[in-house]
Amino acid sequence: MSTIKKHKGLDNTLKVMKEGYLYTTNQRRRLGAENIFETRVLGGKRALVISGKKAAELFYDNDKTERSGTLPKRLVNTLFGKGAIHTTTGKKHIDRKALFMSLMTEGNLKHLRELTRNHWYMNTHRMEQMDQINIYRESIILLTKVGTKWAGVQAPEEKIEEIATDMDIMIDSFRGLGTAFKGYKESVAARRRVEDWLEDQIIQTRKGKIFPPEGTALYEFAHWEDYKGNPMDSRLCAIDLMNTFRPLIAINRFVSFGLLAMHEHPISKEKINNDPDYAYMFSQEVRRFYPFVPFLPGKAKTDIQFEGHDIEKDTMLVLDIYGTMHRDDVFENADEFHPERFLDWDGSPFDLIPQGGGDYYTNHRCAGEWMTIIIMEETMKYFAGKITYDVPEQDLTVDLNSIPGYIKSGFIIENVAEKV
Ligand code: HEM
Repeated sequence: MSTIKKHKGLDNTLKVMKEGYLYTTNQRRRLGAENIFETRVLGGKRALVISGKKAAELFYDNDKTERSGTLPKRLVNTLFGKGAIHTTTGKKHIDRKALFMSLMTEGNLKHLRELTRNHWYMNTHRMEQMDQINIYRESIILLTKVGTKWAGVQAPEEKIEEIATDMDIMIDSFRGLGTAFKGYKESVAARRRVEDWLEDQIIQTRKGKIFPPEGTALYEFAHWEDYKGNPMDSRLCAIDLMNTFRPLIAINRFVSFGLLAMHEHPISKEKINNDPDYAYMFSQEVRRFYPFVPFLPGKAKTDIQFEGHDIEKDTMLVLDIYGTMHRDDVFENADEFHPERFLDWDGSPFDLIPQGGGDYYTNHRCAGEWMTIIIMEETMKYFAGKITYDVPEQDLTVDLNSIPGYIKSGFIIENVAEKV
């Protein structure tokens, strides 16, 4: 049995932060390690980085990999919220995940599609009046309107900007990878403000003082009972209610990346306009190609084996998300942006994993993946077909060494006009 190759060093966290999305791939190459290598992170903890399709299969095997208790505390306090679904396991997880997934009805998804389409249409006049539009910022505001409406949450127009900014601060907090980072306090404060606002609406709904429509997230979460017949504590309920639309707002990052891809591959605009399936393929490729979630943590649930290596119970496992989607043995010519690769994709739950993999109901795979694709499809169709715009000189660099990934300029457009 061969030994696992090691990235030496007492704590490589700084190196991970310095190389960002490229750390895992660079390190595998440097060590000549195919699918697994050892490193030390987050205060010197031993971790095994696993990469590729087989690694994703291991990571999403609930008998072999445990997820609860593995997310860095700082990230839970900022990004997900204390007690959030991401931190649960076993029966509790499956019970609560069913609540999230019960929102993904055909009707609710159709409503989301219409909300997205209508909000972009309604926004055209505003963008026509503006000298320049920063798409990162514009789409976060628009998606905050879409997300709160879809969730049935009351968000007056004058509060939208504030909610969008607070959400962005929380989302940006994974920049610290769970270590001390500048902005931690600001992020915790942003979370507290949004939790307060949502908890109030949960309480009001339960008291019958406000009436969100049945089927919306606010209604369903406020009235939900767990498998023991207990309602959720109102704070926890606010936290998980936020988990139905805070990540929706994060789609602004994919929107900016999508417009960058359209700018760099102008032919894709025509294809989106002429082929009804192209917006889907294009959106999938944007989620695969551009940097968002770098990796995910877990630990060995029991003594396990991976590719002939023994892994002891409780060993930290890190699934290489970005690197897996950029491997040529997972996606052919992985470093090329090529939406057509999704023409005959087999839909494997272990290769296209920008929002996690495995099963929606029993694993921690993102509950909002279908929502993300729908929002991307409608947004890309709008920018390709409904308006014209110019892309001025700007810094379009996407620095893969920096987590989270973003376009330096945010992606700026100008001279917006409705297509006639
Ligand atoms: C989980 C990414 C959009 C709700 C996750 C996970 C990732 C992720 C990586 C964890 C997977 C794992 O631990 O195995 C993203 C990205 C999004 C996005 C990159 C788009 C920018 C959404 C949306 C929703 C959502 C629109 C709205 C419902 C959730 C929930 C979980 C989750 C509730 C926890 C699932 C669980 O623990 O079982 N997401 N997500 N996400 N996501 Fe998303």
